[in-house]
Amino acid sequence: MIDTALKELLVNFAKSREPICVLTGAGISAESQIPTFRGPEGFWTVGSREYHPQEMATFQMFLQYPDEVWRWYLYRMGICKTALPNPGHLAVSEMERMFGGRFTLITQNVDGLHLRSGNSPERTFQIHGNIFHMRCAGECTRNIYPLPPGVSPKSKEEPLTEEDRRLLRCPACGHLARPHVLWFDESYDEIHYRYVSSLETARKTKLLITVGTSGATNLPNQVVHEVKRSGGILIDINMEENPFSRAALSGKNGFFLKGKSG
Ligand code: OAD
Repeated sequence: MIDTALKELLVNFAKSREPICVLTGAGISAESQIPTFRGPEGFWTVGSREYHPQEMATFQMFLQYPDEVWRWYLYRMGICKTALPNPGHLAVSEMERMFGGRFTLITQNVDGLHLRSGNSPERTFQIHGNIFHMRCAGECTRNIYPLPPGVSPKSKEEPLTEEDRRLLRCPACGHLARPHVLWFDESYDEIHYRYVSSLETARKTKLLITVGTSGATNLPNQVVHEVKRSGGILIDINMEENPFSRAALSGKNGFFLKGKSG
């Protein structure tokens, strides 16, 4: 339930010309049945060992077991492909329509659901990449390619086929391709993950709405603290208390809406 003070503030904000930013995490896609990152469903078995997402999602793991890492991503890609945007995604795309050039979306989600629900690629910074895309693992170019149509989602037990292996190669040089996602042993950059653009957006933002994120990654933390430092309004929407709800409530311009994002 939105209280009267917040409602009044939002109405006044909507009439202003100030920039607004929405920062989303896995929680916004939970109602589309995509498991959250730190939930219990992320484990993956390779040989006789179970791996946590924080071990699977590394360049080191990819170098050691490229087939297994691709299989894991193609399994997750299948979940994202069949998922549908939920009312939370639709509200965010409606906000872009309402606010136009004042609006920026920063998302940690690689599921592509914001774009599918109508947010524009220009105003959406996918700071952890997109699971439907790949790029050269040898970095012959910085190009990002859609996954070839012949590459299909995998069930948990299904191995890669020879055809998958043939298709999952860089179209420019033929080297092995990798999923276009940020891994735990890598750093943000501008060209692939809009690092500089996100920080520039944060510097201008006067209202930041964080949705469904545990606040565990670096760039989102920088964004929240930049907006807070410059006196912007913070609104956190989450089922649980988290670092961003605490950041919001510890300032005079902050709100925490505890509940489902939808
Ligand atoms: P997490 O899985 O860490 O956190 C999900 C958050 O969503 C938690 O705070 C939940 O309380 C909240 N939540 C769950 N269901 C919700 C719902 N229906 N409505 C609102 N909130 C809900 O996911 P992220 O914070 O997105 O990065 O994780 C951030 C990043 O951590 C991921 O993008 C991934 C990982 O490192 C990379 O792989 C680079």
